[in-house]
Amino acid sequence: MKHFINLNDISAIDLRKIIKDAKRRKNLRKKLSSLEVDKGSPLKGKLLIQMFEKSSLRTRLSFYLAIKQLGGSTLTLRPDELHLSKGGESIEDTAKILSNFGNAFMLRTDSDEKLEEFKRYLSIPIINGLSPSSHPTQILSDVFTVEEIKKKPISKLNISWIGDSNNVLNSLITASIKFSFKLNIGCPKKYMPNKKILNYIKNNKNKISIYNDPKKAVAGADVIFSDKVISMNDKVDKIKKLKHFKKFKINKRLINFAKRDCIFLHCLPRGTEVDEKVFSSKKSKVWLQAINRVHVQKSILLYCFGKLR
Ligand code: CP
Ligand code: NVA
Repeated sequence: MKHFINLNDISAIDLRKIIKDAKRRKNLRKKLSSLEVDKGSPLKGKLLIQMFEKSSLRTRLSFYLAIKQLGGSTLTLRPDELHLSKGGESIEDTAKILSNFGNAFMLRTDSDEKLEEFKRYLSIPIINGLSPSSHPTQILSDVFTVEEIKKKPISKLNISWIGDSNNVLNSLITASIKFSFKLNIGCPKKYMPNKKILNYIKNNKNKISIYNDPKKAVAGADVIFSDKVISMNDKVDKIKKLKHFKKFKINKRLINFAKRDCIFLHCLPRGTEVDEKVFSSKKSKVWLQAINRVHVQKSILLYCFGKLR
């Protein structure tokens, strides 16, 4: 049994194995419809319990289809209906019940500590479906999408991030270290990654540069990533923050500094950080990016269950 909380906890070999398995499985089910089960039903009889303490559309749907396509089933709990949320039951007791009733637990939460505490008491795998510090299932899936479109290992590509220093960027930074790809980050000075992340970058042999000029950050890029300037539960002066990011809007003019065949990715939902013309252009691969979550999360589930080939 293995947990999936942070890309940093997982070896580069295992991360690569997950991507390889996802590619094989995606190819094998080209003619199957959404709810048809993969040959061999590898997770037959298994129940994935999901809980979202914050909004979700894609993660919720993609885990639903992922476990179904592996032959298992899912149940989504509403946090406001549990005793836990009202302080009437501890994480320890909740975790024991989850472990006895289900086979894996996927949690989207506003507390990294909560993920760790659940991990301590669960005897089933826990998967981080987004936390304040990371969004690992998203980024592993995005590595898959990049390689699928570009048809080469991500280590041979120039990746750029234009946007806030948030959970998604943190996972992209970890992925850059794990998969050894060049990452240029473009963000306003006031919104640079925090000290812990900067130290993490410094302490790992890395190919990461940070620019406060978006043009420099996208120069020669094969892929431009972005995300909302204001994340869920971001406790900031939103108007002020959006103003700081004005120069960082992803529009045609900015994209022209990247490679001609550069693609645009965004985990969604989007805000005003990307121009409509870019978002709906051929360069934008956001819909493929979203559906690929299903394929990669299937292989993440198999990894957690120790069933990855
Ligand atoms: N990208 C992503 O995680 O989307 P949701 O918040 O809709 O799950
Ligand atoms: N950074 C965003 C990602 C949403 C999928 C947030 O945390 O709200």
